[in-house]
Amino acid sequence: MASNIKGFSKWTKEEKLQWIAKTYFSNSEEIIALIKTYWNSDEDVQKLHDEFIENTLTNFYLPFGVAPNFVINGRNYTLPMVIEESSVVAAAAKAAKFWSERGGFKATVLNTEKIGQVHFTYTGDSAALTRFIDTIRPQFFSDTEALTQNMRKRGGGILDIALRDKTELLENYYQLHVTFDTKDSMGANFINSCLEQIAATLKEQARHFDSAEQELEVVMSILSNYVPNCCVRASVSCAVSDLTSSEIENPEEFVAKFMQAVRIAEVEPFRAVTHNKGIMNGVDALVLATGNDFRAVEAGVHAYASRGGSYSSLSHAKVEDGIFTFWLDLPLALGTVGGLTSLHPMVKVALKLLGSPNAEELMQIVAVAGLAQNFAALKSLTTTGIQQGHMKMHLKNILNQFKATDEERRNAVLHFEKNIVSHSAVVELLESLRK
Ligand code: MEV
Repeated sequence: MASNIKGFSKWTKEEKLQWIAKTYFSNSEEIIALIKTYWNSDEDVQKLHDEFIENTLTNFYLPFGVAPNFVINGRNYTLPMVIEESSVVAAAAKAAKFWSERGGFKATVLNTEKIGQVHFTYTGDSAALTRFIDTIRPQFFSDTEALTQNMRKRGGGILDIALRDKTELLENYYQLHVTFDTKDSMGANFINSCLEQIAATLKEQARHFDSAEQELEVVMSILSNYVPNCCVRASVSCAVSDLTSSEIENPEEFVAKFMQAVRIAEVEPFRAVTHNKGIMNGVDALVLATGNDFRAVEAGVHAYASRGGSYSSLSHAKVEDGIFTFWLDLPLALGTVGGLTSLHPMVKVALKLLGSPNAEELMQIVAVAGLAQNFAALKSLTTTGIQQGHMKMHLKNILNQFKATDEERRNAVLHFEKNIVSHSAVVELLESLRK
């Protein structure tokens, strides 16, 4: 077992690697060699990745795949997807093709407001606090002018600074609830810098305001990843009778079952979580490929799914006058400038592949990826079942796990055209081939 070490972050990468390998592995030389095979041969590229975080030892591969044939608002896209789950890209591509033949996807940005908060306690008179904040509000804007200058030139900035009394929830608790427009950047650093300046102004001004200096204490200043007013809607729609495909013999029956599946996810949290997880398969893959913060998106989306007081489906479906419509609204704080977008070479490729979208276009594309994934999952679940497609894709992983030869792979593919794939069935086949 390792004992506590001092100054680890200051060691060289080689020293860290040696220490990790020798402390935690009996075959340290092998481990070091393995870890080094994941280093990029271009030292500059490796250095770039090393510096994204602290204590980098190596890189961690995830597949970067593409799903073609997405028609979004009449335009053709091939979506870059970074994900390890075997069936996700295939499902996206299948749904894209299906809907490209039925008018494609529509997407609209509903709003683009981001939120940050200065949380503080105040023990004095609440009406006096309101008067104080009203008096110093212009100062918040002027003190942040240097920080907001560039953003204002791009048409964004601080939209509003509101005092919120939260004392019913928690004794003496107030916030400055600040709304922002961060244009094409996700805006986390911008928002946090503005909030810290606003908090500094609040503290400074409190010194000159009656007894507020003693009564007011700033607890923290931070953006919120809950962005219900930075929302995008994606939808598909076509005549019910146009929904025929190899898996759909009777479109009316298909739609009835599909809508029932959506309704179940609307009312039943256990199902809703998995239903929404399917949506996030598409969303996260795009968010990762484009260098955005998937933890922020996940946290915000799931909070949004609970906004009615119970966790529910993010997508909905209806039939009106013989027209089937399937849609979802997603809160997405995304950026196409700043952060990793101008640093990570593969993120640059992903954004170029998408036609260098601005943040609003990227919101639309990501929401469509989520809807496509959800459609593909529900279509499989309500017709053939999910495992048929899933296990076919997973077959390659099982064969890799057992280091199958090319000959064994060919045999396995032929065999499983007519037989159900399972881990044990693949093992059995390999054993019989290897006898
Ligand atoms: C698997 O990653 C996603 C699904 O479970 C989604 C769903 O059940 O709707 C297939």
